[in-house]
Amino acid sequence: MLKQLLHITTFLFTAVLLCSSCNSANNKTETQSSVTDSTDRKWWKEAVVYQIYPRSFKDSDGDGIGDLTGIISKLDYIKSLGVDVIWLNPIYSSPNDDNGYDVSDYRNIMKDFGTMQDFDALLKGLHERGIKLVMDFVLNHSSDEHEWFKQSRSSRASKYRDYYHWWNKEKGTPPARYSLFDVNHDAWKYDTLTNAYYLHYFSRKQPDLNWENPTLRREVFDIMKFWADKGIDGFRLDAFQFSAKDTTFPVFPSGYEKNFVQYYAMGPHLHDYLKEMNQQVFSKYNVMSVAEGAGNSFEDAHNLVDADRKELGMAYAFEGVDIAKPEGYSLPHFKEVFSRWDSAFAEKGWLAIFLANHDQARLVSRFGNDSAAFRDVSAKMLATFLLSMRGTPYYYYGDELGMTNAGFNKIEDYKDMPTLNEYQHQKNIGGDIKKFMAEIKFSCRDNGRTPMQWDSSTNAGFTRGKPWLQTNSNHAYLNVAMQEKNPNSCLNYFRKMVKLRKENPALVYGKYTLLDKDNPDVYAYTRELNNKKFLVLLNFKSKNSTLHTGIDLSKAKTLISNYTTVLASETLRPYEAAVIEL
Ligand code: NOJ
Repeated sequence: MLKQLLHITTFLFTAVLLCSSCNSANNKTETQSSVTDSTDRKWWKEAVVYQIYPRSFKDSDGDGIGDLTGIISKLDYIKSLGVDVIWLNPIYSSPNDDNGYDVSDYRNIMKDFGTMQDFDALLKGLHERGIKLVMDFVLNHSSDEHEWFKQSRSSRASKYRDYYHWWNKEKGTPPARYSLFDVNHDAWKYDTLTNAYYLHYFSRKQPDLNWENPTLRREVFDIMKFWADKGIDGFRLDAFQFSAKDTTFPVFPSGYEKNFVQYYAMGPHLHDYLKEMNQQVFSKYNVMSVAEGAGNSFEDAHNLVDADRKELGMAYAFEGVDIAKPEGYSLPHFKEVFSRWDSAFAEKGWLAIFLANHDQARLVSRFGNDSAAFRDVSAKMLATFLLSMRGTPYYYYGDELGMTNAGFNKIEDYKDMPTLNEYQHQKNIGGDIKKFMAEIKFSCRDNGRTPMQWDSSTNAGFTRGKPWLQTNSNHAYLNVAMQEKNPNSCLNYFRKMVKLRKENPALVYGKYTLLDKDNPDVYAYTRELNNKKFLVLLNFKSKNSTLHTGIDLSKAKTLISNYTTVLASETLRPYEAAVIEL
């Protein structure tokens, strides 16, 4: 079970990016003809998305929690990155059982984060800078403190009863359902008030909404329109592939929980709900939408995102982000996964490219090398990878600096609810606590949620109060202020890499060809569009590594490199990365 919980951080947070109605007003390049679905130019395909975890980005009022005014104060920094879209984790009213993924009012702003006026000012400030805003919509479940749920649980006769999934006690014990966050992993919670159980795939404070109910669906679409009318540019749909359920609640075979995604994802009518959402919301606005979960196969992923189906726009698959393990990972496996996904989407559909988000530990700690000697160079190597692949790159706040895992040692330092619940669970079942602590030190999502490191002052310039989650002590030397001054910093490398991608459509749309496939240390590929051809070379190891591409590099032009002296031969230095024009 422990493995499973840790796996959640991988699964949960894989998304399918739904994009629709991206009309030509927003897409200056739309006029260009396309050969395939995936070369059909759209602004959201060409965008670089920067994800902000609002709680941890910048606190303006000293309460130790990041807020909207804090983000506003950093808009020029965000602009300076060259990114096009911001994805904000949920900012709606919430009792914060799961840091905003438990919404108690979808039309209001969480008190910790500010007011609706602050939100309007943020949106205006972003738009003035030509940056779009994607909001996170939590629609598989609400908070148990949402008015709908309060009414629903008050009486079996409530008109809100069917907004959620209830199982009356007189029918017996409900068929087992696995909860990802519950301390007992039981997704049914008995409620004495009406002598019935309610379903919660996540925590007890996150009851699942009943999408079979057309009234609920209408309410949800109205909420989405409320935000679209305010002018937001996109939606990320949280855990949406779980929304559709077989409400006869069949018994699952024993052991189903080891592979619960297969049973939970892509339930009956999911495609109908998405088509309806598209028709009711996306098609009426010029928005990009982002949902979570690409199903269980390429077929599922295509059925969600192929343009002619009018559901979603972009698949965000877990398989890549899932590769990193505490014991390391195999580069041939990494290459195989990314190459397989690329080839499945080469003609149709579109992918998101990411290796980190708010549900993961830090990028450089998981996929690079966060030791003093290699942190900087390996973070730059990963930026080169993420920003030179086909698909829309997603970059999580702080990764542009090479921020690392916090690696807390004491359970008291962790704040993540599922982690704390699993700790309790392990204690209850007499589990191996030492092993658990070692695993969360590497994998817990709090690792990726520590305050943004703005400068070397106390609390990294994030807050003048006490931060809600401890600041990583390496902010003393790893921070924005210091990296701004250094032309070779990770931050400035990230900016250059974003610029290079934006100036070269071949890096967005170009054909991808893997070279030297079985090389255990080096990832090499070309990207090619019209008359432009680029070679990307990435040494994933902390040693010199040789590659065999058969390409004569003597006349090639290096466009970017994470070393100050250019590549001299087919031997790459530790974590060396380069994009070369052929
Ligand atoms: C997925 C989100 O990314 C994660 O942070 C959250 O805990 C769960 N969904 C539940 O909403």
